Amino acid sequence: MTSIKLTATAKLPVAKADTIVINALASSAKSVKALGSPASIEKLAGLNFKLLGASAKSEAISRVSVDGGVVGLVGVGAAISSDQHAREIGGAIGRAFTDVKSIVVDLALASESQTLALLEGIALVQYSFDRYKSAPQERRALSNVTVISPFAISPKAIERIQVLSTAVDSVRDLVNTPANDLTPQLLAEQIKAQAKIPGVVVEIWDEKRLAKENCVGILSVGKGSIHPPRLIKITYTPKVSTAHLALVGKGITFDTGGLNLKPIAGMIGMKYDMAGSATIGVAALAIAKLGLPIKVTAFMCVAENMVSGAALKPTDVIKMRNGKTVEVTNPDAEGRLVLADGLSLASDLKPDLIVDVATLTGAARVALGNRYAGLMGAGNGTQAVIDAAHDTSELLWAMPLPEELTEVIKSDIADLMNSRIGNPSGGMLVGGLFLREFVGKKSASSDEYLNWAHIDFATSANNDLAAYGHTLKGATGAMVRTLVRVAERLSGK
Ligand code: BES
Ligand code: ZN
Ligand code: ZN
Repeated sequence: MTSIKLTATAKLPVAKADTIVINALASSAKSVKALGSPASIEKLAGLNFKLLGASAKSEAISRVSVDGGVVGLVGVGAAISSDQHAREIGGAIGRAFTDVKSIVVDLALASESQTLALLEGIALVQYSFDRYKSAPQERRALSNVTVISPFAISPKAIERIQVLSTAVDSVRDLVNTPANDLTPQLLAEQIKAQAKIPGVVVEIWDEKRLAKENCVGILSVGKGSIHPPRLIKITYTPKVSTAHLALVGKGITFDTGGLNLKPIAGMIGMKYDMAGSATIGVAALAIAKLGLPIKVTAFMCVAENMVSGAALKPTDVIKMRNGKTVEVTNPDAEGRLVLADGLSLASDLKPDLIVDVATLTGAARVALGNRYAGLMGAGNGTQAVIDAAHDTSELLWAMPLPEELTEVIKSDIADLMNSRIGNPSGGMLVGGLFLREFVGKKSASSDEYLNWAHIDFATSANNDLAAYGHTLKGATGAMVRTLVRVAERLSGK
């Protein structure tokens, strides 16, 4: 968890023995030059960066010895070009200087927003998951970060960074935790333990309550497991609210594929299949911590998709809570079944916007790789998420919901089927279209869907490659910051 102190100040502090000052290295057509405040740049005059092996390539890190001390350098390419770039440079610095107690980051930043993005980038990488290591792998010394900036940075803005990075870390912890330690009930308890915030109420719906509420999707997916399913409902009611945001998340604590058992290579990683619910639950709590004037109702739809004598069988038909019948041709397309309940519960409340987040389809990875999340939706839902993701620089890509593909999921004997076996085309989009069947209309007489966005982040929820920018290996905590930003924008901030 982030326990580092973040400070912004205009003046370079007096050099201390346990502190490294970090300057930027920028390249132009002719030369490589250091950037920072005049006093620290002066010290670097005359150094031959090339011979020292210091590169201006963006995110390249070097250390040089100057006047008996050490100066850190971070490459920024031609210049720090945007907030996103500043955040990534922050990530590179934060990953490289964990062995030092204090760093002073002195890069000649161009704006207040770049200053904040840089601090956020540093804060976002102060995380490691070593709960299961007998001996901690690395020693983290970094506890003080000072950024040199002529812009006035408010304590509130620093506090917001702390709340956001703590939220991202909390999602990472939940998502990295293996399924033997994160059953649906344990996930519910973890969330409840984090929810002691004014205005927040957490309800944990057990099997009895789920049956009473007609949550057939969650119950059906969960019935093959000895760890029964849960729905975790988080409500945040501020004193004044200008809008109502509903969040829905896929929370499969482990996805074996059910009676369409995944081969081992596909099953590894399926502890991450609850990332959507962790993301929306933690985001709701972060919104409450920030005291935003917006009502939030979050539905974490949590179950373990297992094989057993009680599990769903291919071609079982279930009647969902909105009355539609679904032929479950594919027990591995379980995410859409649990989300269907969350979406119909959310729709009953007629909120201003519904956003669901899920590691829904392998097809998202085929289409978009592993950094961009797929975004679909109805009404002004997708635009709301695009705008927020623009502010946070989180990567997502708008995808269509082609009407003709609705044919693919029509069943011969029920209203819908959850997947057409042998027809993988447009898998991510078909997932979105299936979910849309459970999004309510604006009114009884309207054919317009409520404002809704669906984020399929089977791509970016987990990074199984090397760390880059402010993204670490393993669970990423992607989309938490964007959801908070959606709430800020909806509430007029
Ligand atoms: N949890 C998976 C999706 C997934 C795959 C997430 C890879 C992360 C990485 C989901 O439940 C699933 O199995 N989806 C099927 C959908 C299909 C059966 C319609 C898939 O991707 O094959
Ligand atoms: Zn599955
Ligand atoms: Zn799944």
